[in-house]
Amino acid sequence: MLALVTQPGHPHTTRIEEVPALHAREGEVLVRTLEVGVCGTDREISDGLFGIPPQDEPTLVLGHEALAVVERTGYGFTRGELVTATVRRSCGHCVACAEDSPDSCLTGDYSERGITRLHGYARELVAEDPTQLVAIPKSLGRLGVLAEPTSICERALRHARTIGGRQPWQLERALVIGAGAIGLLMTYLLRLADVEVWTASLEPGNELIEESGASYVSTQDTDLSEVGKFDLVIEAAGNAQLMAHTLGRLRRSGVACVLGIDPREQTVEIDGKVLGVDLILENRVLFGSVNAQRQDWLAGVADLDRAQKRWPEALAQFVKLRVPLDRFREAFEHRGGKATLLLSD
Ligand code: BGC
Repeated sequence: MLALVTQPGHPHTTRIEEVPALHAREGEVLVRTLEVGVCGTDREISDGLFGIPPQDEPTLVLGHEALAVVERTGYGFTRGELVTATVRRSCGHCVACAEDSPDSCLTGDYSERGITRLHGYARELVAEDPTQLVAIPKSLGRLGVLAEPTSICERALRHARTIGGRQPWQLERALVIGAGAIGLLMTYLLRLADVEVWTASLEPGNELIEESGASYVSTQDTDLSEVGKFDLVIEAAGNAQLMAHTLGRLRRSGVACVLGIDPREQTVEIDGKVLGVDLILENRVLFGSVNAQRQDWLAGVADLDRAQKRWPEALAQFVKLRVPLDRFREAFEHRGGKATLLLSD
């Protein structure tokens, strides 16, 4: 069976390789991968900056944004059913993982499909633990490949609502920084919840953002301080300086959430008064969020389905590039929208 593999820690080793055939063991469901999404984490792994192969193996099969089809009926799943699968799996020895919250794992010993210690979905067949599978409704179809990034947004919003809701707070106005896959999905989820959304990015315009009813701000000609203050700010551009500035863009009791990763070694600036005065006197919060738990996946799938029904033409344009597995380089180089790899029709 062919797979997209890489040697974590070794840049430019991503390649298609024959990997051993796979058989589902007792307690596993055999699924056939249809499509995997490519994100910044895949690029980082491929650049040798991230990722860990399974124990005693030199290579890691990539692919953590999966859409698959059940190959063999069993364990509550029927052949032909569309599914996706969670990414992070329990470390087995912390209280968070014991409470089915590996997204909040306290040891860092978790495994993640296609990222950390566990092979991913960029191969023909995968034998999966049925408790990690999430059903994708037929109505959602191939858009199910967006379930993983949507689950990331759902977790961030769930935490933002919990943090904001620790005191009287209303989520009326939100700023989303970045219009890549996460920024776009976040914009649509917030619009589904009837929040007034402003989404900012470098490009001069963005019709997809505006089709959701959000306002688009090009940071080429508008300074973000000109668009007012917000109850919620999401940083999804992966820029540490912009992350530091989010605190200054908040209203009273505002919550800022950082989702993009910026691994560059650098020092960023923050206005001393924003940190030393406003943060305290206005009860503001800045937090980071990673991964997602099962409830976020279920919410993500349901919301994607709702979004597709409300904005069918827009949602159809979310995946910008779909290429077969052997053209993975194009997908890795693609910028400006989600790229996916096709493994099966
Ligand atoms: C994935 C998360 C994962 C994180 C860190 C992200 O790209 O979406 O599921 O936890 O990388 O490995």
